[in-house]
Amino acid sequence: MTNEAIPNLTAFDEAALDKAFAALEAQAREAARALDGEAAVEAFRLEWLGRKQGRLNEVSGRWLKAAPPEAKKALGVRFNALKAVVEGLLDAALGAGPSEAALKAEAIDITLPGTRRLIGAEHPITRTMIEIVNVFAALGYSVGVGPEVETDYYNFECMNFPPGHPARDTQDTLVVAGQERRPLRDRLLLRTHTSPVQMRTMEQQPPPVRIVIPGKVHRNDAADATHSPIFHQVEGLCVDTNITFSDLKGTLDHAMKALFGSTVKTRFFPSFFPFTEPSADVQISCIFCGGKGCRKCKQSGWIELLGCGMVDPAVFAFAAEKQPAYDAKQISGFAFGMGVERIAMMKYGISEIGQFFAGDMRFLSQFV
Ligand code: DAH
Repeated sequence: MTNEAIPNLTAFDEAALDKAFAALEAQAREAARALDGEAAVEAFRLEWLGRKQGRLNEVSGRWLKAAPPEAKKALGVRFNALKAVVEGLLDAALGAGPSEAALKAEAIDITLPGTRRLIGAEHPITRTMIEIVNVFAALGYSVGVGPEVETDYYNFECMNFPPGHPARDTQDTLVVAGQERRPLRDRLLLRTHTSPVQMRTMEQQPPPVRIVIPGKVHRNDAADATHSPIFHQVEGLCVDTNITFSDLKGTLDHAMKALFGSTVKTRFFPSFFPFTEPSADVQISCIFCGGKGCRKCKQSGWIELLGCGMVDPAVFAFAAEKQPAYDAKQISGFAFGMGVERIAMMKYGISEIGQFFAGDMRFLSQFV
């Protein structure tokens, strides 16, 4: 607030007018400089420009009235000039916004790049696993999971690897320590394959069964470009009446075409797994050379991709202990198991399995 009263004017010559208006202008400028905040600006407006009690109103009333006729024009010019100054001060105060200090505290460099929030994406293994599962889901398969820490019974014994059987050596595993006092069948280990979930599924439900089981498995294997002690599999099991080897062939041929393209061919090679009889390894025509022979397929034109076979009656016998409907005389079935890393490496042209587990964003962000 200015507070200084408007004096009476006694002299009306140019010099006296200049001095009187200059004094008012100085007061107005000083008052405007001190304005901080909306309320103060409004008070300034009322004090100077208020229609009834404003200082300018008082000036025009008192000074103009007292002025002799010949001084009125000179006074009017100065009055208008002062009014323009006050209005300018008000405009400046209204438009000024925050103080310089406040501005500085909030200062941003609009040329800096913004903070980008990265959108998460499926890991290529997850993505491949889902893709495989979806191929079978479209055929009416359900999806199941089982524990990664498994008993010797489920991982080996009921899958027809009896204690001491040499086939156990092909899946060297990591066992939980300190279980020597438990019977062998109850000892815990990290599952070496997803096949034990076949048995867990059959124990839970009578046939028919059509299920795929994605999951993580562990082996006591040395890591190299194509092996990792931790990897993933998708298991499949189909049990019903009259399931034949040609059902198995047709299903897997369709699945490989769905995953790798309709021009891919499959062939079935005799193999051995304790839990299937007969057993086969499935090969697909090389997706890199179309079957002509290249470095990737070691010039053979074929790439081995998964294991499969007809469920061994010995496996059904274990299932029948809990679900008698798994009677090998009444039903039959096929099973298969595929390595997810291997399929992902082929699909995406990855040559080092370790890339999947290294957590390097330069690798992973290529799959967004
Ligand atoms: N469990 C086998 C492995 O890990 C893969 C496999 C082969 C699964 C044949 C099956 C099958 O269900 O029928 O090497």
